[in-house]
Amino acid sequence: MALKDVSLEINPGEFCFITGPTGAGKTTLLKLIFRMEKASQGQIVVLGMNLGRLPQKDLHRLRRRAGFVFQDFRLIPDRSVYYNVALPLVVTGPPRSQVRDRVLHVLGLVGLADYADYRPPMLSGGQQQRVAFARAVVGEPELLLADEPTGNLDPGATDRLVGLIRKHHSRGGTVLLATHDLALIRRVGGRVIALKAGRLVGDQNYRAAER
Ligand SMILES: Nc1ncnc2c1ncn2[C@@H]1O[C@H](COP(=O)(O)OP(=O)(O)OP(=O)(O)O)[C@@H](O)[C@H]1O
Ligand SMILES: [Mg+2]
Repeated sequence: MALKDVSLEINPGEFCFITGPTGAGKTTLLKLIFRMEKASQGQIVVLGMNLGRLPQKDLHRLRRRAGFVFQDFRLIPDRSVYYNVALPLVVTGPPRSQVRDRVLHVLGLVGLADYADYRPPMLSGGQQQRVAFARAVVGEPELLLADEPTGNLDPGATDRLVGLIRKHHSRGGTVLLATHDLALIRRVGGRVIALKAGRLVGDQNYRAAER
């Protein structure tokens, strides 16, 4: 079992880090919240939806309101960066011109405006990670789940991405950010949920070291 006795409540608008050593269960926790995995025991309520009782056909109700930056990106390799980022909007279905504006806007935010026509395998790991981030936020989700979203970025790109996450948060979004980058946590501050070997071993608020 990947997680045991993990009980926690996260309020709308909170900024939470999930930390812990490799194998602690960070990714598993995020996947449970996104219903990519089903809990074998216990109850998970996300955005008012009880995930144990959410039928497969209603999953889109959750996915429309939550964005996920996957640790392993999960981009579609034989489709353009533009297509990959636009995908979540196709589900919600705004007019095509609006989709275009929004996709180009977020690609600009992550510094990839010139890469819309590239296919993911033609990009560096850090660039792919930023595409994954753009896809997660393109629909302005209420809940952002970000799994090691700066794992492949240099310090400058990390700062810019964290700036975007904070902006998302300041607009009212709830953020769950899994990382083992303690320096990042110290710099940004916030609620820090610590896992170890699948158990909850800490839940504290840290004040930012700067700003
Ligand atoms: N579906 C699953 N069923 C059972 N065990 C799993 C499942 N998925 C992952 N695990 C196990 O659960 C543990 C936690 O894995 P997880 O990927 O959540 O860790 P993590 O904290 O994200 O680690 P990392 O920092 O390396 O990304 C690992 O021992 C893994 O092998
Ligand atoms: Mg992980």
